[in-house]
Amino acid sequence: MLVSDIEKVQSTIRQIVRDWSPSGAHERSQCYGPIINKIEQLFPQDRVCAEEVNILVPGAGLGRLAYELAKRGYTCQGNEFSLFMLFASNFVLNKCRGLNTLRVYPWVHAGSNLLTNGDQLRPATFPDTNPSDLHRQAQFTMAAGDFLEVLH
Ligand SMILES: C[S@@+](CC[C@H](N)C(=O)[O-])C[C@H]1O[C@@H](n2cnc3c(N)ncnc32)[C@H](O)[C@@H]1O
Repeated sequence: MLVSDIEKVQSTIRQIVRDWSPSGAHERSQCYGPIINKIEQLFPQDRVCAEEVNILVPGAGLGRLAYELAKRGYTCQGNEFSLFMLFASNFVLNKCRGLNTLRVYPWVHAGSNLLTNGDQLRPATFPDTNPSDLHRQAQFTMAAGDFLEVLH
């Protein structure tokens, strides 16, 4: 395995924490919150048919934003070209069951920004929501590939 691949695995694990663990909640609300609020302001679910609002999330990473939009009734497609991200998002979205049933140690490879050994060994659980709880009619897909090539 290449060093760059190992770094991608490490960053994918940290991304799991940001997108799908309880400890990522604050960061999610800061970065996804304003986008979700704006969409709900532009297309309020009580005034539009949310299903008819098509939303594309290019570079969707592990898919949390796209998932949140689909959960709110919008037709949403996430797009991503990194196989590391696609493998991990497929795992979380399609295979994980139950709340916080899995655990990662996202900082175990970190050598900086650590005040104590405990910081390095701090675990994070996921998923903080059950992705399979999306209602049956939810319109949520992920498109794999380069944004500039697969979406026409
Ligand atoms: C900075 S990350 C952000 C991921 C996610 N939106 C988030 O907020 O966590 C950018 C993502 O875009 C993806 N990406 C970059 N260029 C892309 C392209 N041309 N087509 C599809 N995905 C792309 C990368 O693989 C990466 O996962």
